[in-house]
Amino acid sequence: MCGIVGYIGPQPAAPLLLRGLEKLEYRGYDSAGLAVREDDKLRVIKTVGRLQDLRDILEHTAAPRGTLGIGHTRWATHGRPSDENAHPHTDCSGRIAVVHNGIIENYKELREWLVEDGHTFKSETDTETVAHLIESFYEGDLVAAVRKTIKRLEGSYALGVIHLDEPEVLVAARQDSPLIVGLGEGENFLASDIPAVLEHTRKVYILDDGEVARLTADKVEIIDATGSPVDKDVFEVAWDPVMAEKGGYDHFMIKEIYEQPKAVRDTLKGRVAEGRVVLDDVDLDSETAKKIKKIYITAAGTAYHAGLVGKYVIEKLARIPVEVDLSSEFRYRDLMIDEDCLTVVISQSGETADTLASLREAKRRGSRILAITNVVGSSVSRETHDVIYTWAGPEIAVASTKAYLTQLVSLYLLALYLAQERGTIDQGQLKAYLDSLQELPQGIQAVLDSEQTIAELAQEFKEKEDIFFIGRGLDYAVAMEGSLKLKEISYIHAEAYAAGELKHGTLALIVEGVPVFALATQTRLRDKMVSNMKEVKARDATIITVANRGDESIKEASDRVIYIPETEELFRPVLAVVPLQLFAYHAALARGCDVDKPRNLAKSVTVE
Ligand code: AGP
Repeated sequence: MCGIVGYIGPQPAAPLLLRGLEKLEYRGYDSAGLAVREDDKLRVIKTVGRLQDLRDILEHTAAPRGTLGIGHTRWATHGRPSDENAHPHTDCSGRIAVVHNGIIENYKELREWLVEDGHTFKSETDTETVAHLIESFYEGDLVAAVRKTIKRLEGSYALGVIHLDEPEVLVAARQDSPLIVGLGEGENFLASDIPAVLEHTRKVYILDDGEVARLTADKVEIIDATGSPVDKDVFEVAWDPVMAEKGGYDHFMIKEIYEQPKAVRDTLKGRVAEGRVVLDDVDLDSETAKKIKKIYITAAGTAYHAGLVGKYVIEKLARIPVEVDLSSEFRYRDLMIDEDCLTVVISQSGETADTLASLREAKRRGSRILAITNVVGSSVSRETHDVIYTWAGPEIAVASTKAYLTQLVSLYLLALYLAQERGTIDQGQLKAYLDSLQELPQGIQAVLDSEQTIAELAQEFKEKEDIFFIGRGLDYAVAMEGSLKLKEISYIHAEAYAAGELKHGTLALIVEGVPVFALATQTRLRDKMVSNMKEVKARDATIITVANRGDESIKEASDRVIYIPETEELFRPVLAVVPLQLFAYHAALARGCDVDKPRNLAKSVTVE
């Protein structure tokens, strides 16, 4: 799910498609390709690797001369990075080419049906299914064939489609994955993101879910899901190219914070069916799950903080003892790991050297490995036994936000899956948890709606040199993530402490006016938490409490309160961390820091 471009007009398409894809490169990808109609054939050139690899191929072969084409940069979801899995994908006849962003959840059953119907597949992707479906429905009208196809699709898609039989037509369709049409003079453009068309036009149609567009050089027609014509407003893009790369946001970090509801929704997609957890890429059957004697979780940084939440949740739901360890420490212990253990490695990039080394050490000692990662085809994903992919999409900002939330959701799914397979919770409990999980995107959005209040808090505390985060149980794990977010992008010294530990030393640092974030969302620990807050208040600190909506009395022990919507107690970390992400972002902004690229840090630490 990454970059889509399309062109129909008088100019050679290939150079325009390449330029458009270059404008989308910032989003991260693992392969690239294009398809251009040249006389009566489709020239499809695609390769794993970078756009430069595609450019090299085009330079060494006769570049396609046609003026109708589509292009794509792929962020692998189904099917690891390879030439065959790169887009565009074609049908059996090679007369139809498709590019796609999104996830087709029911692609396996569609593929089975198409294979039975005589279609032959060349890739492992969900996207290729779309090309063959269009082929099976095509009767001389590409729009009609695409409309019939999308009625069979479950999941998210932004599609660009061309057919040799209709050399003047480019068709697009959108559901839950962004797609825009760039309006030119005697030419028209298609793209998954505005930066790809900005050098040609600032007039765009932003397609809505269910809409299908038919582009020719001189006309763009849009119809809605019922087939009725849509009279779209033209959106005049005022952004400069740099702003456009961030979708209109000032920074990638805030863009990614706001992508969290969708990232969580995408990560849950296809993994809850008929009241049960379904983990496609995990072969842990009931027998295997029942034999697990202990679980080790190992990760670095934010991923480690997600692991701490995972510990609480897996122990509570699946009743398996869990140890969590920093990956830079894990392998230097004399580990008591064997084949009765499951080792969970968590890594957004899938390339963190310490985490990869920990995976190898646990594997060497006989442990089964399960990876939670955001990058298909990453080193971790290639070396693990089982994998749960987070569908957060490319995370560009160094400070991890949406990847962290989808790691939490993946750990919840794992805990519930193990509990389901081991029978440690009943069907009613399982359904209640799964229902709560699926309401999280709305809860995240509700917290995002309070951004302004949090921005004002950040303005108030931006000059502080020390800020503390305290909590108990799951709130302690969230406090650690909030502390990391703040220090890594605002450079304010921040520390997280188990609230019960304050009196063993840290209280000496709590003096008048020191801001202390108190995470108080865990109901059964609330009263003890209030006692700790009073300890801190007695030293004249300023307490900012994150509490559950409706908990009015918490105000008595707080200077400020940020409320999160009601949700299942185990899932409150997903909501409680969002105000802390926003606070860190605005504090960094207020201090003039480079929010997306903080000093001394890299997005992926591939050295030990
Ligand atoms: C997160 O905000 C940090 N940038 C960093 O701690 C990161 O979580 C850590 O380096 C682990 O990266 P990974 O998830 O790609 O393995």
